[in-house]
Amino acid sequence: MDSILVRGNGALEGQIAIAGAKNACLALMPATLLSEEPLTLINAPRLSDIRTMSQLLQSLGAEVTSLADGTVLAMSSHALTSHTADYDIVRKMRASILVLGPMLARDGQAVVSLPGGCAIGARPVDLHLKALDAMGAELDLRDGYVHAKAPNGLKGGSVKFDFASVGATENAVMAASLAKGTTVLENAAREPEIVDLVKCLRAMGAQIEGEGTSRIEIQGVDRLHGATHTVVTDRIELGTYMLAPAICGGEVELLGGRIGLVGAFCEKLDAAGVSVTETETGLRVARKNGRISAVDVTTEPYPGFPTDLQAQMMALLCTAEGTSVLEETIFENRFMHAPELMRMGARIDVHGGHATVTGVDRLKGAPVMATDLRASVSLILAGLAAEGETMVSRVYHLDRGYEHVVAKLRGVGADIERISET
Ligand code: UD1
Repeated sequence: MDSILVRGNGALEGQIAIAGAKNACLALMPATLLSEEPLTLINAPRLSDIRTMSQLLQSLGAEVTSLADGTVLAMSSHALTSHTADYDIVRKMRASILVLGPMLARDGQAVVSLPGGCAIGARPVDLHLKALDAMGAELDLRDGYVHAKAPNGLKGGSVKFDFASVGATENAVMAASLAKGTTVLENAAREPEIVDLVKCLRAMGAQIEGEGTSRIEIQGVDRLHGATHTVVTDRIELGTYMLAPAICGGEVELLGGRIGLVGAFCEKLDAAGVSVTETETGLRVARKNGRISAVDVTTEPYPGFPTDLQAQMMALLCTAEGTSVLEETIFENRFMHAPELMRMGARIDVHGGHATVTGVDRLKGAPVMATDLRASVSLILAGLAAEGETMVSRVYHLDRGYEHVVAKLRGVGADIERISET
């Protein structure tokens, strides 16, 4: 298993290009199952999660070809040869559940293993099933699989989500695009990745209104056609690299970044003493002056502070002046990075869904272990600012969501290398 070695090396200067959004791409790829015609995605990120989704789609009979060094995905689902998403693939990645709605809508049948994914608490799929049930699906849970049928096709229905689930909204929007009649989703998720999915579905001929608000209305159509779509910028990769100059000092421009993608996050950075300026090509980030100040952060669905930036923000606040409280409201058990940061000298007290972080002058390098995708990058950020060497092990988590992390950070002057073990 590979590790990443980081040495604290002072201020960072330069530019980092931000890739297309992993989470948008993982929802856009299953949309190929909705049409017999080709769907091409431009600006795809080069990540192991994207390769896992490609394998899953191929196992169902779709063709997925990676072009232009992996940044273009040419997909085609002329006919599905299987309707079973097997446990062996699904367990690697929770987003696999997103093939359920499209397969069911297209062919009236789908069997999908219950998902695994990051170890960040119980992650049920009841809201996905509630939406499909409202569209008339017959659902049966047995042997660790969801068995879904709609022999006469899905019908439009009304769903009010108890929680604005990103994945359930995506599954429902895709399924409803081919259902007979009108579907109304209330308390729908409003994330930019949902807006991006709807943009693509609309290019394929879907009739959808209200994306980006909590009420989405979908008028089902008989068939969808092919399209070419450019994947939206990854706001989580953007926010992660915005924290690099905030933690280390210096000034970095994040190419492709816009404040609209990371509004709530920018407000917290501002309060902590970090300036963010929009340029023609992206966002320029630097510390305003001196030390970072403590700020309190509560994770919320979009447009609130994203849970996927909580671990990285904690890395920043470890050396802030004063005490910060981070509250995690989206996932239980999402503070697994805290004990690892404490190995580096951070002062953190976790109690339930809250973590109290008291800033120290400087972190110290240590061997640490990545526990999930966002936790692993938070340890790298912390290592960039620490005194001495930090060795982050189990970096396969990182490969799920950050392309070329070593090259991107070296490009702005970081002392970081990947140590491969055979
Ligand atoms: C997506 C993102 C993930 C991000 C999360 C929240 C992708 C591929 N992943 O995950 O990076 O952290 O949004 O912004 O886009 N829940 C239920 N029942 C359900 C579905 C969800 O109880 O049927 C709960 C989950 O356990 C969790 C919360 O709702 O506590 C949020 O989950 P959800 O918004 O669905 O996240 P994902 O789509 O899995």
